[in-house]
Amino acid sequence: MKVSDCKIIDLPKIAEPSGNLTFIESARHVPFQIARVYYLYDVPGGAERGGHAHKVVEEFLVAMSGSFDVVLDDGRDKARFHLNRSFYGLYIPRMIWRELDNFSSGSVCLVLASEYYDESDYFRDYSEFQVVNVQS
Ligand code: TYD
Repeated sequence: MKVSDCKIIDLPKIAEPSGNLTFIESARHVPFQIARVYYLYDVPGGAERGGHAHKVVEEFLVAMSGSFDVVLDDGRDKARFHLNRSFYGLYIPRMIWRELDNFSSGSVCLVLASEYYDESDYFRDYSEFQVVNVQS
């Protein structure tokens, strides 16, 4: 896949004087069936997360609180996204290298994933990923 296949998706937002509500329905507001939910929190200042690509897993990232950056890389092109609100998220298809940095204090990154956790789905070596993705 290419960086241009990654996109910001706006989520429904029910705004009321008593506060906002946003919801995400599997295969409706994200383009895959949700199999797994995880979240990153208590990330120390200056820390970086990610540093991998997935062979099959698609993901959708939302800044539930605070903010952080996501750098996407398809082996040729790169793009940096700044996520800072909980009514939109970033869709990342399979075979995109991602790095997360610039976490604000107290930030929470929610991730919806299309498959259960499986370490064999990861490329953790950038050169290996790049060779495979650029050739395909
Ligand atoms: P990893 O995906 O490398 O985290 P990040 O991309 O945020 O830096 O996962 C970190 C560790 O957590 C690694 O040992 C695998 C484990 N893990 C699970 O057991 N289940 C999961 O759903 C995820 C995402 C990670």
